[in-house]
Parts: sequence; C-alpha cells; structure tokens
Amino acid sequence: MRRSLFLVPALLLALPACGKDASKDSKGEADKPAVAEAKPETKPEAEPEEAFSFTVPKGLKAPEVPTDNPMSAAKVALGHKLFFDKRLSGDGSRSCYSCHQNQLGNADGRPLALGAGDKELTRNTPTIWNVAYHSALYWDGRAPSLEKQMLGAWKGGNMGAGDDLAAKAKEIAAEDGYAAEFRSVFGLAEGDDVTPEHVAMAVSAYERTLLCGDSPWDNNALEGDALAGWELFRGKAACATCHEGPNLSDGKFHNVGIAVADGGDIGHGKVSGDAAHNFTFRTPTLRNVSETAPYFHDGSVKELRDAVKLMASGGDRKIEGLDENFADRGLSDAEIDQLVAFLGTLKCPNNLEVIGEQSVPGIDAPAG
Ligand code: HEC
Ligand code: HEC
Repeated sequence: MRRSLFLVPALLLALPACGKDASKDSKGEADKPAVAEAKPETKPEAEPEEAFSFTVPKGLKAPEVPTDNPMSAAKVALGHKLFFDKRLSGDGSRSCYSCHQNQLGNADGRPLALGAGDKELTRNTPTIWNVAYHSALYWDGRAPSLEKQMLGAWKGGNMGAGDDLAAKAKEIAAEDGYAAEFRSVFGLAEGDDVTPEHVAMAVSAYERTLLCGDSPWDNNALEGDALAGWELFRGKAACATCHEGPNLSDGKFHNVGIAVADGGDIGHGKVSGDAAHNFTFRTPTLRNVSETAPYFHDGSVKELRDAVKLMASGGDRKIEGLDENFADRGLSDAEIDQLVAFLGTLKCPNNLEVIGEQSVPGIDAPAG
C-alpha cells in the first residue's frame, strides 16, 4: 500500500533533541523534512477535504496515513462510535472496546481473549495504543494494514460477524443517524451502499488517533531506579536491540522461545510460509506494558517482573532457532527491578473516550 506522511509542524518541536536515547535516534526518521500531503483523488461527490492535524504527544511523530484512507475529523468521529458499537458483533454481545479496555491497559486482562460466543481464542490481547506505528498487525504480522486487521477481527472469532460483512455493514448503516454520517464522510450518493470497507476505514482512522506518549521517558524526566533501568535497557540488557524507537518496537519478528515447547503456534512462519520464521512474533510495543498483564502472545506469564526476567535471561537455551540478539544478560535481581521501574514510566497518561454501556459478562474483570 502506498503511504504518505502526515506531518504536522508541532511534531518537529516534539522530538526531543537530546542525546538520551540512541535507540530512538537509530530509526533515523527524526530528521526527515515535513512532506506536503499529496491530495488524494477525490470522488466527484465527495465533500471538499478538511485539513486534519493529529494531536501528537511528546516523544512521537504523526503516524503515516495510507493515501487511500485520508484522515478527517468526521471520519475519526464515525470510527470512534463504531469502535464502541456492540451491534457490529455477530450476536450484539461485544464491541471492539470489549477486549481493548482502558482499565486493562487497552487490553482485556485475560491470558487468552474471549471471542464471540464466549469462545476462547488462541492469543493474548495486545494494547492498541500506538497501533498506527506498526506496519504489520497482530502478533504474527498477518494483517498488512489496520483496515485489513479490522475486517479480520470483525468477521472472525473476535467479533464473530461471519462471512456476510456486506449485509452487516448495510444493517449498521441503517441504524440511527449512521447513514447520513457515512454519506457525508465518504461522499456517497443517496442509495449508495455502505460497504464493510467504509466501516473499516472509519475505525482505522479512529485507531490512528490513539497515540500514547508524553511519559516521563518522553519528557527526559526519569530518575532513580527508572533512570538506571533505562540505561540498562539500552545498554547492558540490550532490550533496545528489538524494543527500539519511540514505540519500543522494531516491527520485526523474533523467536524468543515463548511457548515453543507447546509446538502449536508457529507465529510469523505461518504467514510467510518460510520455516525459518517459525515461532517468530512481532516485537510488541512496551507502551503501557505495566498495565497489560498477562504477557506474551500466549498470555503465559502473569507478572511483569517475571516477563522481564525471562527476557533478560535469554529464555530456554535448549530451544533451537532463538534470535541471536536474545541472550542471558547476567542481570542481578536489583537490575531486574530497575528495568521494571523503567517500564512503569511508559504507562499511557490518557484514556479512550468511552461511548455507551460497555460491560460484557465473561470478559469484564473488576475495574482497577
Ligand atoms: C474477543 C476480544 C477482541 C475483540 C472483540 C477485538 N479484539 Fe482486537 N485483538 C484481540 C486479540 C486476541 C488480538 C491479537 C490476535 C493475534 O495476534 O492473533 C487483537 C489484536 C488487535 C490489533 C492489532 C494490535 C497489534 O499490536 O498488532 C488491533 C489494531 C485490534 N485488535 C483492533 C480491534 C478492532 C478494531 C476490533 C473491533 C473490530 C477488535 N480489535 C476487537 C482481541 C479482540
Ligand atoms: C531479540 C529481540 C528481543 C529482545 C532483545 C528483547 N525482546 Fe522483549 N520481546 C520480543 C518479542 C518478539 C516479544 C513477544 C514474544 C512472544 O510473545 O512470543 C517480546 C515481549 C516482551 C514483553 C511482553 C510484552 C507483552 O505485551 O506481552 C516484555 C515485557 C518484554 N519483551 C521486555 C523486554 C525486556 C525488558 C528486554 C531486555 C531485557 C527485552 N524485552 C529484550 C523481542 C525482544
């Protein structure tokens, strides 16, 4: 997919000019000049496009936006409503938000997600803060864009809407004021069908605004254990070889030996069809990680400290094919605590704005 850069001037100011973090600078994108946005082809009926500027928190830059789904405030507002609308699911039981809840780190607090029909799925729910920065979505990277990811989650086990998304999209569009909103956002004529792709474009536009930054780390305000932890993270513990850049992910796939022994889930290997990728998973962001227990693609580790210990120990060395950058760093208990203290500073300061009644029996853990 062709992508263009939406850059707002403010983000240039937002990039810290300090030398604190080799890893953030190593992406090398910080110096790119602002690029004027190429005008997308507009359909004749389309409303004139309004300018859209991201509210970019400190430490981040405005995300890339696909040229075939330009941002607009009205589209984001429509996607926001849809993300919280339980009528999208097959049985009306859950919305996208049901598994991506504020008080659970924008995840669900469960080892494995509980999908439509209360059927347990095979993976742990990741946070959706900063999903705009991932070029491949899901733990195994099988979705190349947010738009495709949305269609998958909507149709499949998560939302259980089934194969006839076209009918579902029309049904949604017929509700309340949705029809007029879809028409004006997408420049549709009266009588034009609202398609699943329209729904996915609106939800994706909303997701691109879910930006988490402005943490003590972004503000160069680390001290004590957290500061020592950051030094370890980018130094001796070498976490930043994979958890790099402003979103603490290199976007690449690595085998760090999680659940290899169980055999079943070969991760990115299934997507690429290359056995060399078996058991590799995309490096997750560590934004908000103190809030998203349990951990890893299979939810196999309950506590953050244990997840950090495992990552710093190089895992089970008997497992074949472990990533060459994954090794025992020989850290003391005190150093593990410092890493945990650093990760705690990456907690997201903001929340999604909740629309409507969102509790779902079965998924909801006690708030807190
Ligand atoms: C039943 C719980 C559940 C529901 C409902 C749900 N999700 Fe998710 N979401 C998950 C799980 C589990 C994953 C990871 C799946 C995987 O990697 O195979 C995920 C992954 C994602 C990702 C990718 C994150 C990343 O880091 O790659 C995005 C984006 C996302 N969901 C958005 C949505 C949207 C949009 C909806 C509504 C259409 C939705 N989710 C509904 C559980 C859920
Ligand atoms: C070789 C690349 C690599 C290195 C080095 C690395 N990680 Fe990771 N990290 C990953 C991958 C890949 C995953 C996801 C693995 C999975 O679920 O199968 C992950 C997962 C995690 C998780 C769980 C996140 C979640 O949302 O479930 C934490 C916490 C974590 N890493 C912290 C660290 C720390 C701290 C270090 C340094 C001691 C480190 N990592 C070093 C690649 C790496």
